[in-house]
Amino acid sequence: MQMSLSVSGISHEREERRGALLEERAAIARELHDELGALLTAAKLDSDWIERKLPEETRALVAHRLARLRQSLASGIALKRRITNDLRPALLFDLGLIEALRVLAGEFNQGDELVLNLDLPENETQFAEDVALSVFRIVQEALTNIRKYAHAKQVDITLQIQAGVIDLTIKDDGVGFDTAQLKLGRHGLAGIKHRVFAHGGKLTIQSSASGTTLHAEVPLLPAT
Ligand SMILES: Nc1ncnc2c1ncn2[C@@H]1O[C@H](COP(=O)(O)OP(=O)(O)OP(=O)(O)O)[C@@H](O)[C@H]1O
Ligand SMILES: [Mg+2]
Repeated sequence: MQMSLSVSGISHEREERRGALLEERAAIARELHDELGALLTAAKLDSDWIERKLPEETRALVAHRLARLRQSLASGIALKRRITNDLRPALLFDLGLIEALRVLAGEFNQGDELVLNLDLPENETQFAEDVALSVFRIVQEALTNIRKYAHAKQVDITLQIQAGVIDLTIKDDGVGFDTAQLKLGRHGLAGIKHRVFAHGGKLTIQSSASGTTLHAEVPLLPAT
């Protein structure tokens, strides 16, 4: 009795530490994305402006350095993107998919009227790393799209595991879109499709004026 009490105490403490670590990394990723991203973008816009405003004679004098400055800024922006993208998966593998989704939802739910409801399995499950990363990325992109386009009031995410298959539904009550008219050069939904199919899964996206539902079934184990 004593023993089991202290054991559960320790694991609770460990969970709390892991949760704190996850939140700290997510905060760094956010800070890098928002603060550093904004600074670098502002610097890049300023360098564009300077180039436009320079008189012809002076421009030739500084052209080489200016080109190098813009190249450095572009590299800085690319590096920032790489670091923010790397921080999140590291977190995902530390904490597990279910916990990482909870953190993602917590971030999404901050601040405005748009409410995200999560229905996840109680316990963490061992997912293959590539499966966990794909599911996490799918949810991330779907939520980004909902923020950008849906004008939704409510989002419901359900994840269940049945007979070795992850069953994921992401439903919003927003304005919807015409799924037959996907614009060229967009990567989000194409990326989702690619990820689901790469794991031998199934994907349906239904959309109408009352909202959009994305449903994915992803096998826990690779298809043989
Ligand atoms: N939940 C949603 N509600 C309303 N419209 C959506 C939703 N999800 C996607 N869309 C529409 O589908 C289009 C394609 O989405 P997709 O994620 O493929 O590209 P994108 O978000 O425009 O660009 P990218 O993801 O490459 O940055 C969007 O431009 C938007 O018009
Ligand atoms: Mg998108």
